[in-house]
Amino acid sequence: MYQEKVKILWNNRVGPEYYRIGLKCHRGYSSAKPGQFIMLRFPGQIAPFLRRPFSIHRLITYDNHTAGIELLYKVVGEGTKKLSECKKGDFVDILGPLGNGFSFSDHYKRIFIVAGGIGVAPMLFLALTLQINGVDLSECNLFLGGRSRDDLLCRDEFLGIGITVHVTTDDGSVGDKCLVTHPLETASKKRRPDIIYACGPLEMLKCVVGIAEEHTVSCQISIETIMACGIGACLGCAVERKDPSGNYMHACLDGPVFDAKELNM
Ligand SMILES: Cc1cc2nc3c(=O)[nH]c(=O)nc-3n(C[C@H](O)[C@H](O)[C@H](O)COP(=O)(O)OP(=O)(O)OC[C@H]3O[C@@H](n4cnc5c(N)ncnc54)[C@H](O)[C@@H]3O)c2cc1C
Ligand code: FES
Repeated sequence: MYQEKVKILWNNRVGPEYYRIGLKCHRGYSSAKPGQFIMLRFPGQIAPFLRRPFSIHRLITYDNHTAGIELLYKVVGEGTKKLSECKKGDFVDILGPLGNGFSFSDHYKRIFIVAGGIGVAPMLFLALTLQINGVDLSECNLFLGGRSRDDLLCRDEFLGIGITVHVTTDDGSVGDKCLVTHPLETASKKRRPDIIYACGPLEMLKCVVGIAEEHTVSCQISIETIMACGIGACLGCAVERKDPSGNYMHACLDGPVFDAKELNM
């Protein structure tokens, strides 16, 4: 884990409320795993004072060296608004990589990835890592859902690496007008996947977990909780275990990726 002030390489608007920001950071990020995140704070005495969590969207590599990371973020409040106003050459303070990340197995051939809205942020890194690990991406399906056309991000990147993409929107402005879990259900019935990876709103995750249980498929979900510290110090990110002990886990330390069987959702 590194704490450093890092230079902004770019901060580009990619949709009405969405931005991609490139950060030049420590080469130790070369061993970061998809699903891991960073905590970002504005340097100096600029509000907001608490760090904000963001998933690693992609590693930035030059000549096979990791030169930084890219984040994909949605402007939802004070911190992300401030971030959207940052310019190339400005500095932000980051702590990371944090959390556990998704885990893989050589047995996973038919892989389903489910991304709802900004939940797509860690999934591109996941897909690129599968590609590097030699997974046949023609067996891989992405279920990409959003409220509207503007909320569907990264579709071309996934298509470009050979993943089959199923698009849904709530308003039908692009793709099928339904919940993203509909095509997931249909495809799971047709031929059971080996693993489902999911990130998105809680209601979507609950539904994905239900489908995984119904078809007895392994399922890993990345969950979002409010996080104040990101390192296990504030207890603000408690999530309940499914087992009868009723103990709590920390989303920042034990997650944010969990085996769906572990969680009481
Ligand atoms: C592990 C993890 C990874 C994340 N990765 C990304 C990412 O890659 N891209 C991205 O855009 N966002 C990501 N988020 C969510 C992001 O951290 C919040 O959107 C951000 O902290 C909001 O900060 P703000 O100051 O702009 O909003 P605030 O002013 O703090 O809040 C504005 C609104 O957003 C809600 N909100 C704040 N934090 C969260 C949260 N964690 N989850 C849900 N709602 C929240 C608040 O309740 C409030 O309604 C991630 C969250 C976690 C826990
Ligand atoms: S965010 Fe503080 S303990 Fe997890």
